[in-house]
Amino acid sequence: MASILILNGPNLNLLGQRQPEVYGATTLADIERLCEAKADELNLTIEFAQSNDEGAMIDLIHQARDRHDGIILNAGAYTHTSVALMDAISSVALPVIELHLSNIHAREEFRHTSYIAKVALGVICGFGAAGYPMAIAALNEALQ
Ligand code: DQA
Repeated sequence: MASILILNGPNLNLLGQRQPEVYGATTLADIERLCEAKADELNLTIEFAQSNDEGAMIDLIHQARDRHDGIILNAGAYTHTSVALMDAISSVALPVIELHLSNIHAREEFRHTSYIAKVALGVICGFGAAGYPMAIAALNEALQ
C-alpha cells in the first residue's frame, strides 16, 4: 500500500480562524478528515503533519525518504522564501505536489514566486480545502 506525507507549514494550524475570506472556514482537522476519506477510497496510507518551523519541516521531508512514497506540501509562506525546503525535496528524490488553498497567482506579487514549484511534480492551487483530495488523487496516479 502506497504511503503519502501531507505536510502543512506555518500558520496553517490556524485555518478556519485565519483570514477566512482568503482561506475559508474549514479547519486543518476538517482537512485531515477529508484526506483520510480520500486515502481510504484509494487504498493509501497517509501521515498528516503541520509545523510552524522550517527546520522541523525539513526533518519531516528527510524522514519521508524511508517512510513514504510521495509528499503533498503546503509550505505556506516558506513556499516563497525557502531554498532550504527546495533543497530538502531535491535531496529525498520523492515526488512532491505543491498545494495551496488560495490561488497564489491571483494574489500579491511576492506570492507568485515558488521555490517548491521548481522541484515539484505539479502544483494545485486555488480550490480551497478541496485541493487536498485532488492532490492525493493526482499523486496516486503518479505513483501507479
Ligand atoms: C498558502 C498561500 C501562501 O502564500 C500563504 O503564505 C499561506 C497559505 C495557501 O494555502 O493558500 O500561508 O500556502
